[in-house]
Amino acid sequence: MHTVYSRINNVSATLSTSLMVLLAAIACSSLLFTADPKGTLDVTSVKIFNGDSRRYSHRRGEYAFVNFNITADLSPLFNWNTKQLFLYLQAEYTNAQGVQNEVVIWDRIVRRKDDAVLKVVGKNKYTFREYSSKFKDVPPARYSLKYNLMPYVGLLTYGEAAQTTAPVQFPSAKERVE
Ligand SMILES: *[C@@H]1O[C@H](CO)[C@@H](O)[C@H](O)[C@H]1NC(C)=O
Repeated sequence: MHTVYSRINNVSATLSTSLMVLLAAIACSSLLFTADPKGTLDVTSVKIFNGDSRRYSHRRGEYAFVNFNITADLSPLFNWNTKQLFLYLQAEYTNAQGVQNEVVIWDRIVRRKDDAVLKVVGKNKYTFREYSSKFKDVPPARYSLKYNLMPYVGLLTYGEAAQTTAPVQFPSAKERVE
């Protein structure tokens, strides 16, 4: 009895060691293919609307509406260890109080290599709002397209696939959002 147990134990220890070695090999080998594709990102327009309303105090602040154009071929990020790619468009700016903000205004999950060639002419999917003050007189914002690469085995990696050629100025507010 004793020998049967210890044999099973030995076999399973050997199997799990082999499995660990195999997984480590997969994780390491996918590091060999560190692609760093770059695309272009243009912010084609930014419009600011004032949310101030006497009736709706929760609408205080200003809202930004951003139109953009992304062109990027991220298919080199897809290898046999790529599970999915999480893409997001981020705006970074420092508000009038000196607080640094990073706001995700758009995102997309790409699961197939065929969908990794991006031609997106779009606008912000998530609310881009400055609560504490106005966007006016705020220094120009930096916009960038970032990604998280999720592998089947190994660690999540981060990267930046595009950014605007220059920071983009916020215009002054146009009209109220009613
Ligand atoms: C988007 O950007 C690409 C590459 O810069 C350009 O060829 C294309 O005409 C642009 N599209 C729009 C609608 O601005």
